[in-house]
Amino acid sequence: METAKKRENVKYGTDKIFQDAEDFLPLLGTDYVELIVGNAKQSAHFYKTAFGFQSIAYAGMETGVKDRTSYVLGQDKIRLVLTTPLQGDGWMNEHLNKHGDGVKVVALWVEDATKAWEETTSRGAKSFMEPTKEEDKDGHVIKSGIHTYGETVHIFIERKNYNGTFLPGFRKWESHYNPSEVGLKFIDHMVGNVDWGEMNTWVDFYAKVMGFAQIVTFDDKDISTEYTALMSKVMSNGNGRIKFPINEPAEGRKKSQIEEYIDYYKGPGVQHIAVATEDIVATVTQMRDRGVEFLYVPDTYYETLKDRVGEIDEDIEVLKEHGILVDRDDEGYLLQLFTKPVVDRPTMFFEIIQRKGAWSFGKGNFQALFEAIEREQENRGTL
Ligand code: FE2
Repeated sequence: METAKKRENVKYGTDKIFQDAEDFLPLLGTDYVELIVGNAKQSAHFYKTAFGFQSIAYAGMETGVKDRTSYVLGQDKIRLVLTTPLQGDGWMNEHLNKHGDGVKVVALWVEDATKAWEETTSRGAKSFMEPTKEEDKDGHVIKSGIHTYGETVHIFIERKNYNGTFLPGFRKWESHYNPSEVGLKFIDHMVGNVDWGEMNTWVDFYAKVMGFAQIVTFDDKDISTEYTALMSKVMSNGNGRIKFPINEPAEGRKKSQIEEYIDYYKGPGVQHIAVATEDIVATVTQMRDRGVEFLYVPDTYYETLKDRVGEIDEDIEVLKEHGILVDRDDEGYLLQLFTKPVVDRPTMFFEIIQRKGAWSFGKGNFQALFEAIEREQENRGTL
């Protein structure tokens, strides 16, 4: 593993500044993540019940939108948009038919969406949406967008002149069903799975088009089991708020989980959304109680844990009970665990992560994670 120019990087407040990134956009944070789903009404119920998301905004026939319904859900700084087409044709149906439920938009919050579009398209990004002004009684936003891997897009959102609930065209969503939050705070990172041999293409895209820095590399010597392997590079924007690991499959004796994803998603796409908590045990306890399924971690993982990560604040027995993984780097440690896919195809899942100083991504856990995932694959007969 190499950590690019790590010593030159400095911490600034809660951000970590990666000095080899060029922040010409610049990105202020993740604005929202939009999924195209088969039944947004029922998906919204799942994310409220199981993940503790709150009802924020709604758009649909009642608000003058004729072709789709969208529900906006929020928890602290995280916003999820769930969208379902209302007609039988069009790109949303094609997206659904091909990919199943999945992430279409990773929206990024910017100061100037026109400049973000100009900077990225002039560096080679394919335009998805030219800068467009949308307004209502609460002000206006400027949106623009570019394509990234697969059929995924980035939409730049400039909202400094907008005071509404979410975006023009949406109204506040009042619901009598409001399960409590589970302590999810913000999106820590979002991982893209790309096709065989395409990792460096997309790493270059984030470096050249978006000005990101490469902060971590894993290759198949770092992460491989008897059956499966992956290669991964992590790209970050300058302030460290936007981190996109990019995975590609690597040859193993049997099908890797990345390859399985590509086969079932029918191409590249968002593999997992990692959401941060400040108390992973409390968050995971509530999520399990509400029906979220997490990957099984073998008890033997915990036998060697103390030797691998040293002293930690948490009781290892409690971590074992919940299947929480721990990894350490030279700046601290992190706790993480992964849900099973949240859709029926073996595609998208979530990671719950709590960082205690560490800025890495749990490389030491990949082996244990892979072994756990392979047991799941074995059960599905796709290994
Ligand atoms: Fe992750």
